[in-house]
Amino acid sequence: MEHLKDKVIYQLYPKSFNDTNGDGIGDIRGIIEKLDYLEQLGIDMIWMNPIFVSPQKDNGYDITDYYQIDPMFGTMEELEELIQKAKEKNIELMFDMVLNHTSITHEWFQRALAGEKKYQDFYIIRPAKEDGSLPTNWESKFGGPAWEPFGDTGEYYLHLYDVTQADLNWRNPEVRKELYKIVNFWLEKGMTGFRFDVLNVIGKDEVLVDSTGDNEKSLYTDTPIVHEWVQEMNRESFGAHENIITVGEMSSTTVENGILYSDPARNELSMIFSFHHLKVDYENGEKWTDVPFDFLALKQILDEWQAGMQKGNGWNALFWNNHDQPRANSRFGDPEKYPYETATMLAQTIHLLRGTPYIYQGEEIGMTNPDFNDISEYVDVESHNAYESLRLAGKTHEEAMTIIKQKSRDTSRIPMQWDSSLNAGFTTGTPWLKVADNSSHINVEKELAEGRIFPYYQQLIRLRKEMPIIADGSYEGILLDDPEVFAYVREKEDEKLLVLSHFYGTDYAFTLPEEFTTAEAKWLVGNYEEVPLTTEMTLRPYETVAFLLE
Ligand code: NOJ
Repeated sequence: MEHLKDKVIYQLYPKSFNDTNGDGIGDIRGIIEKLDYLEQLGIDMIWMNPIFVSPQKDNGYDITDYYQIDPMFGTMEELEELIQKAKEKNIELMFDMVLNHTSITHEWFQRALAGEKKYQDFYIIRPAKEDGSLPTNWESKFGGPAWEPFGDTGEYYLHLYDVTQADLNWRNPEVRKELYKIVNFWLEKGMTGFRFDVLNVIGKDEVLVDSTGDNEKSLYTDTPIVHEWVQEMNRESFGAHENIITVGEMSSTTVENGILYSDPARNELSMIFSFHHLKVDYENGEKWTDVPFDFLALKQILDEWQAGMQKGNGWNALFWNNHDQPRANSRFGDPEKYPYETATMLAQTIHLLRGTPYIYQGEEIGMTNPDFNDISEYVDVESHNAYESLRLAGKTHEEAMTIIKQKSRDTSRIPMQWDSSLNAGFTTGTPWLKVADNSSHINVEKELAEGRIFPYYQQLIRLRKEMPIIADGSYEGILLDDPEVFAYVREKEDEKLLVLSHFYGTDYAFTLPEEFTTAEAKWLVGNYEEVPLTTEMTLRPYETVAFLLE
């Protein structure tokens, strides 16, 4: 645990990071080429999305072979070179383990289809109900029913995600053994980190029942047996090695379960991703809607997770962005008018919290959602399904596109913006997903020459390493009802760190509790010039500032 606290993890999306062979798809060689850049930023570990052999129906989260690198990304030798070269720079690698489901092209599924009983037991296959309807009324998270006919057997297989992603039967000990073997294979290769995809939905019951609608997720999420299996996986794989960093992606989880997953005493995982704070711009919980974000809800959720996990000795992954989320700059700030202030305010807000910060590629240069107007410019299966549902529900093309533009997962999957040349220096070929128009002025080359966002990230990373109060201090939320400022205090021994972040684009005056302003305060870091700490404070557009109180 101690080895973890001052670390910062960089997520890169291999498909869109850097293409060196001109096929329009990022590759391992492209990552090797940019290691100096990542070293300059100061991160400790790289989480790469899956690069295993896959038909790419869900961008690599549909795996055909867990032991092979997909040739479109490169070779095993190149991966070994990457591991070695990263190690020389003290950068570790985290692999993405998709163990809830395989692609239907995986040998296990194919052999199951061919009639091999052993492999049929690897998946969740059920007969239709007596009236001939689907085994349950569950919905796939990507739209449509969660069941698909299993060949011509008359039975159905469960897929909580795309129809090509068949859920594995973790109740079968053979399956678990095979999955731990995969983790061990990559441990041997030199991976020192693992991100486990949707790990909290592996525990489906033996007998599956219809949902009443509202309770559907609870039927297969965070069931008690998941904790047993995570403990078993820990024992049988990474737990036997020192200083491995693990993070579980937890869909719709609770603080209570978050603690169980990440309390070091329980030997499950190092930390978890939870997503409630990124649903504050969903109308009635529905993602494909167009509403402004609810700031008080955002604060309340972050506070609940900070305070709650601390109380139970859990550990949070801290993040705004990833390959499934629209860019936070576009969501919670004003990247047109205040690109620097927005990006740095959001960064500081989470980098000074208790937990492990993640930076998603391009965040460190202020990348935003692109402005694509046609559904054909999107690749993601989820976006296409959503567009169709929106149109079926009566939305016009324009209305549907307004929503897709804000919510599509492709908004963050577009190519990394390296320079102002054609295709942003990402590829010399045709990129698999279009490059954003703003790459002409938001790009690494320009940022390194004259930008202020990248240096700010460098500073935040450095501060976490230099200051135990950031890595290890306690957390307390303050001004919880304030409608514009997110404020908290970290504390360690005799020191306090007060962090104030303003989430809106105008000047804003508010009153701080006296206890902070009577103390000796030292300005530590902020995205405007140094200001004194006073009872009556005014924060400027998207201002963030932190003071050390002795
Ligand atoms: C979560 C991953 O982050 C997402 O990209 C993927 O589609 C689903 N899990 C299914 O594997």
